[in-house]
Amino acid sequence: MRIATLSDLHTDFEANRALVVRLAVAIHEAGADAVVVAGDISHRDDRIARTLEALRVAAPVVAYLPGNHDLWSDLARDPEVDTWQRYHHQLRAVAESAGAHYLPAGPLHLGRGAVAGTCGWYDYSLMLPEIRAQVADEALAAKHLDGIQWSDARFVAFRDAAGALMEDAAVARRMEAELAGQLAALERDAEVEAVVVATHHLPFDAVARRTGTLPWEFFNAFMGSARLGEVIRGAGKVRTAVYGHTHVVGRHELDGLVAYGTPLGYPRERLGMDDDEVVATRIGWAELPG
Ligand SMILES: [Fe+2]
Repeated sequence: MRIATLSDLHTDFEANRALVVRLAVAIHEAGADAVVVAGDISHRDDRIARTLEALRVAAPVVAYLPGNHDLWSDLARDPEVDTWQRYHHQLRAVAESAGAHYLPAGPLHLGRGAVAGTCGWYDYSLMLPEIRAQVADEALAAKHLDGIQWSDARFVAFRDAAGALMEDAAVARRMEAELAGQLAALERDAEVEAVVVATHHLPFDAVARRTGTLPWEFFNAFMGSARLGEVIRGAGKVRTAVYGHTHVVGRHELDGLVAYGTPLGYPRERLGMDDDEVVATRIGWAELPG
């Protein structure tokens, strides 16, 4: 089974909406059995639905998990928002009404394999230790450094059972536990021989882009969590991990596991690239036994 993977389609940009059509055609021509979208389509439900519908021409099955952008709500207009509600219910309904499989609700079984997925979250563990030592806890909690704020601070509000805002690390632990539950069930399932894991946030320190300098390394705090990678590592059937979020194309061989990302990203990040080059570099491919 050939699985095409995409991420960070950001279809609020018209140029990206046009490229989604090109990507869908290329995936169809390559003969994919499924397409997996590893998050960040849009904060708008209509755009998420239209993008998933457009991808249904690419392959018989489309699977999706949200990225942080997809989870955004207008907290100024609706201060009571609980992002878990959006993650577990609203976006599931959007995906399913568009004919797509919603990965946070359960794995996708394909042939003798499966795809498992989670948005994942961040716990600041992907910061370089020397940078972490320079940054105040308050700056991390506010996601704010020298006049630049990570936008999740204004648009995401994960709440616990009592309605209190959860810390990022607690959100990351819950996302990791949900993925661990999916993977444990797949490990026990004798009919599943291999598993591809898709996450939006980064699961491994090795896949983070490093500059060694601020402000970039401050914002690596919000890239992912090393514990997410430990969950993936703990599942013996996983040989491929697909990630999104960072708009840096990468492929990493990590002790028997291939981790890669093929984000479309923002138009300004592709200056000088023609569409053929974009289509050739922004589709990832994973295999599962048929
Ligand atoms: Fe993202």
